[in-house]
Amino acid sequence: MQALGNKKVLLGITGGIAAYKSAELVRLLTKAGAEVRVVMTASAQKFVQPLTYQALSGHRVYLDLFDAEAESAMDHIELARWCDLLLVAPASADFLGKMNAGYADNLLLTLCLASKQSVAVAPAMNQQMFANPATQENIKQLAAKNVLLWGPAEGEQACGDVGPGRMLEAQQLCDKALQHLSPGRLAGVKLLLTAGPTREAIDPVRYISNRSSGKMGYAIATAAFEQGASVTLVSGPVALTAPGGVNLIAVESAQQMHDAVLQRAADSDVFVACAAVSDYRVDQAAAQKIKKSSDKLSLRLVLNTDILAAVSALEQRPFCVGFAAETQDVEGYALDKLKQKNLDMIAANQVGAGNSGFETDFNQLEVFWRDGRHAIAHASKTEVAKQLIDLIAERYTCARS
Ligand code: PMT
Repeated sequence: MQALGNKKVLLGITGGIAAYKSAELVRLLTKAGAEVRVVMTASAQKFVQPLTYQALSGHRVYLDLFDAEAESAMDHIELARWCDLLLVAPASADFLGKMNAGYADNLLLTLCLASKQSVAVAPAMNQQMFANPATQENIKQLAAKNVLLWGPAEGEQACGDVGPGRMLEAQQLCDKALQHLSPGRLAGVKLLLTAGPTREAIDPVRYISNRSSGKMGYAIATAAFEQGASVTLVSGPVALTAPGGVNLIAVESAQQMHDAVLQRAADSDVFVACAAVSDYRVDQAAAQKIKKSSDKLSLRLVLNTDILAAVSALEQRPFCVGFAAETQDVEGYALDKLKQKNLDMIAANQVGAGNSGFETDFNQLEVFWRDGRHAIAHASKTEVAKQLIDLIAERYTCARS
């Protein structure tokens, strides 16, 4: 089933240049399975033609409170009741002021007043207008009336100013709608995750690393986010884009990954160690590029701290899920690691042969915990990650009860 399947979103568009982003928002919400109906104010129509949203949503766009034809199909009170979420994006300063004051002199304002469902606003305006005490007061009062405030973001504005007031990107708004409407099995859970390889410097231009692409870890981050977790992804260097809504901490070496994880672990509910962390680093990385001066070169390696073991040894520790990447005796080594690192779960994968494990888009896992096991059959990493997150949610809930 799609993430927003059966959910109904009423998207209100007010006058602002960010209205062009709302076209993409309609597309993303629809793609996620939501049924989207669009309401536009008169000023919004000066920026984008209603036909754009009609084509993207597959439904006529509601424009006027006194449109007899529209009212006979679904009157405005019915429309306000129809939706699961009323999202105003962009929400102009003028609209926020009127909404806060309880005005109802256009269709969208009337719907905001008449809706018993969640109402969210995505402010979009010039940074000075946003900073103005009148706007700030309106926003504060709307929040006190349980209106959800999504954004704004900071950055360059259409008028050339820089500062807070930009509407959130369409993907960010879609993610927020998703989190709000489908809280998922990990709603409210803080999940910390490592992914990708680490790089251990030999000299300023060379390093020791491994074949991890980050695909498995990034798929787990996406699956956890879709199940409502608040996800922090500590990632080694990979050629992937962090999933929307996920807090990315980019690191390079095992020591940096260790520090980033340990800083956050005690405040996390679940820790998933999917990174292929280098077990060893070069004892003293050379300060300058090593020259080709002899037939043989020896590197002295020293053991890196085991991040997963360090987290599981914390007094206030999260639910710990490790990975085991093995080329032989997968079950034996995985069970050893489960015990030695005192883990709640371990996901073992065969690596080094076949179409699973490192680099490829596919994987298969054998997951173990103290008194149970579960096999996740060969499938895309996206699918394997979804099943693993379901299993983690189940075991985590059991462990807490
Ligand atoms: O990134 P992809 O190309 O998609 O490939 C996915 C994967 C094969 C890397 C992934 O599925 C996987 O198996 N990750 C764990 C790789 C690994 O380092 O396994 P290990 O058996 O060497 O380590 C055991 C566990 O200890 C792992 O959870 C590892 O993250 C953790 N560890 C290891 C060493 C260390 N210094 N710190 C750690 O936290």
